[in-house]
Amino acid sequence: DWNSGNVIAEQVALIQAQVGTGKVICGLSGGVDSAVAAALVHKAIGDQLVCVFVDHGLLREDERRQVEEDYVKATGIRLVTVDVREQFINALAGVSDPETKRKIIGREFIRTFEQAQAELIKEAAEIDGDPIRFLVQGTLYPDVVESGGGSGTANIKSHHNVGGLPEDLQFELVEPLRALFKDEVRAIGAELGLPAEIVQRQPFPGPGLGIRIVGEVTQERLDLLRQADAIVRAELTAAGLDREIWQCPVVLLADVRSVGVQGDGRTYGHPIVLRPVSSEDAMTADWTRLPYDLLAKISNRITNEVDGVNRVVLDVTSKPPGTIEWE
Ligand code: XMP
Repeated sequence: DWNSGNVIAEQVALIQAQVGTGKVICGLSGGVDSAVAAALVHKAIGDQLVCVFVDHGLLREDERRQVEEDYVKATGIRLVTVDVREQFINALAGVSDPETKRKIIGREFIRTFEQAQAELIKEAAEIDGDPIRFLVQGTLYPDVVESGGGSGTANIKSHHNVGGLPEDLQFELVEPLRALFKDEVRAIGAELGLPAEIVQRQPFPGPGLGIRIVGEVTQERLDLLRQADAIVRAELTAAGLDREIWQCPVVLLADVRSVGVQGDGRTYGHPIVLRPVSSEDAMTADWTRLPYDLLAKISNRITNEVDGVNRVVLDVTSKPPGTIEWE
């Protein structure tokens, strides 16, 4: 029988056996998976672990503060923040193809860790000159399957933490969640004493807002999407629906424009897509029947408050045939 206590004990032993006295680095994304993976590794090897939070500019509003303050307070984990917003936006310039975006983001992620490693060794006396050899990833079972790592499954999308790794990778991977589904990861997080706020957080993809802009990623588009996303999350929370929906990607159709009218002027703006889904494990999903009044409120707020958006549309596709994310 599945039991979170057993899985923790088993994984702690496996991590200790794999890592020994080695130094380990872990990227925190702000999401449940990396938070639980890091807490598990921290339980196994304590301060041999250093966590790095990459601010790549593809984050949601307030995410950086939540990791730097709330998560660190709850775990006591050592954390370094690296600000590489410019590096990422430059690397993504001119790129619209979803798989290319994913590969670029995955590659820049790993590069960032390697740079962070070099800096940590230089700066921190407590690292005592030992190179960091291991990298923790919060890869889940569905990520493994969908990136073609499972039994004969076609490659659907390169998850940035599986398919996007560069060939010259300098780290050995530690992936304690590789056999688990999301609900199991949440149970383990709760068992490890992480705050409910983190454990119950809805999934957010590693490549972040970068794969929720259909078209080229620019600073202006990121700011716009971040604002729309914050409105949607605030309204879903206010309506008490956080736990009822699995997640609600908010997508900017940056290459599409439509005519609108606002005040007494014509507008020619972009649509925002709402993609609320219900799911058990993200392998399949159904679109969530959100109350019409809530949809109306979200639509009014986005078109009134977000400059450049004049239309809000609802995605009513299940998975399959649609994936949850648009890219
Ligand atoms: P799809 O779009 O494949 O998404 O139906 C399934 C679930 O995975 C999340 N997702 C990702 N998570 N790295 C991640 O850590 C990724 O590259 C990635 N792409 C999609 C998505 O949000 C959904 O929960």
